[in-house]
Amino acid sequence: MAARRIFPRWLLGLIVLAIVFAGGVTLFVQSGVYDVGADVPHFGPVARLIAAVRMRSVEVRAEDVVRPADFNDPKRFAAGAGLYNEMCSGCHLAPGMQPSEISRGLYPRAPDLTKPTGLTPEQEFWVIKHGIKMSGMAAWGATHDDSLIWNMVAFIDKLPSLSAADYQAATKDSGEAHEHMMNDAPPAASGTGTSGSGTPESGDRGGSHDHGEHKDRHQ
Ligand code: HEC
Repeated sequence: MAARRIFPRWLLGLIVLAIVFAGGVTLFVQSGVYDVGADVPHFGPVARLIAAVRMRSVEVRAEDVVRPADFNDPKRFAAGAGLYNEMCSGCHLAPGMQPSEISRGLYPRAPDLTKPTGLTPEQEFWVIKHGIKMSGMAAWGATHDDSLIWNMVAFIDKLPSLSAADYQAATKDSGEAHEHMMNDAPPAASGTGTSGSGTPESGDRGGSHDHGEHKDRHQ
């Protein structure tokens, strides 16, 4: 009777449940039963849970992102084309490009960006700047400032409507331009930041890094 007063039944039940749960988790981890290989898909409910977490995480954080007023300036598209070709096409492909070796082996798969993402430009900005944990998607904000990231967003927004020839034309001297741009850029321009906000005031380097200018400078 006395024991029951100190430990009411429900509390005892809870403690036992917690111990069983902790034991189960330890057993699950230690057994190595879960396959972390990238060539075996996640167990269905796990995949759905991760997808839901990722979607809400991006949606909520992108609410604070502000699109720059000059988002539709063709200079952004032009500068973004070179960046995309150099850094992104290997995983996300391009019009007329066959799936690459890395794109075929990645898990989660890198979405084919020649098809619309279904994300808003603000959400795309957030993903490009911050990356996605435990996937091949890096946080490009570590090495590129917000303005450059908006250039990439401007480009991927139009990518699904480009033919292979349009793509070739837009990216023809991207290698050289990108190299020079990264040499000019201050290291880790705006940092990875924690704010998540894509402030349009973060410089107008988009304009100063468009390919036209690079081409002029080196001709
Ligand atoms: C090493 C491969 C790799 C490279 C390089 C890469 N990404 Fe990704 N990216 C991924 C993967 C994988 C995902 C999916 C992540 C997930 O679903 O959890 C992704 C997701 C994205 C998404 C979200 C798309 C969607 O439909 O949800 C965007 C936008 C994106 N990347 C843009 C870029 C841009 C722009 C670049 C170049 C600066 C880039 N990525 C470079 C692998 C890559």
